[in-house]
Amino acid sequence: MGRAAEQGKKRIAVVPGDGIGKEVIAAALEVLRASDAPLAFTEFDWGADRYLKDGTTLPGYADESGFRTLERDFAAVFVGALGDPRVPSNVHAKEILLGMRFKMDLYANVRPVKCLDESLNPLKHAKAGEIDFVIVRENTEGLYVDRGSHTGEGTPQEMAIQEDVNTRKGVERVVRYAFELAVRHGRKKVLMTDKSNVMTIAHGLWQRVFKSVAAEFPQVTASHMYVDALCMQMVRDPKQFDVIVTNNMFGDIITDLGAALQGGLGMAASANVHPGKTSMFEPVHGSAPPLAGKDQANPIGAIATAAMMLAHLGLAKESEKIDRAILEAVRQKKTTADVGGALGTKASAAFIAEQVARD
Ligand SMILES: NC(=O)c1ccc[n+]([C@@H]2O[C@H](COP(=O)([O-])OP(=O)(O)OC[C@H]3O[C@@H](n4cnc5c(N)ncnc54)[C@H](O)[C@@H]3O)[C@@H](O)[C@H]2O)c1
Repeated sequence: MGRAAEQGKKRIAVVPGDGIGKEVIAAALEVLRASDAPLAFTEFDWGADRYLKDGTTLPGYADESGFRTLERDFAAVFVGALGDPRVPSNVHAKEILLGMRFKMDLYANVRPVKCLDESLNPLKHAKAGEIDFVIVRENTEGLYVDRGSHTGEGTPQEMAIQEDVNTRKGVERVVRYAFELAVRHGRKKVLMTDKSNVMTIAHGLWQRVFKSVAAEFPQVTASHMYVDALCMQMVRDPKQFDVIVTNNMFGDIITDLGAALQGGLGMAASANVHPGKTSMFEPVHGSAPPLAGKDQANPIGAIATAAMMLAHLGLAKESEKIDRAILEAVRQKKTTADVGGALGTKASAAFIAEQVARD
């Protein structure tokens, strides 16, 4: 598309990545185009194929110029999934995905957990409508900073230390983001989950910061739960949750449990946000190598992620159309097999795109 034709459109950098990432992103782009959202897409071939061909992960990774280009030239980045068994070190995925999260400082990873239909609900004792909350995961610190030491490798004295880095600035901004999200979406409660009874130093900081930020939002009820208890409660009584905020590692783990509550990884969407900066949107699932190239991957996680991206970009009308079409696909079982349908990736996306175009 030429510059003239692009005028007035928001530019989106698209990184399909590896495995089913390529299929679900193609599916989501079809739906985005059907929505008539004013977007202009530029696709990048970053992923295992490119890495194996010329050793490039994300061009401009080392001097960070690649990330600055994304921030300068694009309104958002839309990513499929990264990870390929031919790259056992996973270095390309780390540099592309964690690179964006860390070097673009996308500190809030927002993962909604919403069960759209009774047919997707894995719980006997709760209704689908009772599973509706948002997890906000810290995205730039914690155990993910890849710091630590390793001594005495192979000896009985071997010791491996992995450092959990939590800064006041990092904790405070993500906790505040969670409260602001609650206010913006009319949600009444924010719960912080940690393991401060054991990780007294790192999570002691989370405790202090959470209490002080909570005091700024008297209209929102603030509470706390240890992460082990939270896992049990997410299964036993999910309706009690509204917004949950947590550190990077616990957020990674509890959002997979959250995905199971919404019908599986194929349904789960996520946004990696720094308010006011170019943010990145990706489905929660990985590249699922055994499913790749078979037209079996569920595209809904990626399509719901596209809807989150539109909402973030201020395109609420188009975003809502996509959400309505997803709901219709789920209700009519115009879906892939993992959520009870009999369609392939392409046909499921085509149904959703048709609904969107008609809306
Ligand atoms: N954000 C990311 O890009 C991301 C996230 C997780 C894992 N990974 C990478 O993906 C690769 C595979 O990892 P994994 O197997 O642990 O996780 P995965 O999410 O790829 O797959 C886990 C399970 O969920 C199923 N699944 C996932 N997405 C699905 C979809 N859209 N439709 C239907 N079923 C779906 C898979 O078949 C598999 O059974 C690894 O290289 C891993 O590092 C990448």
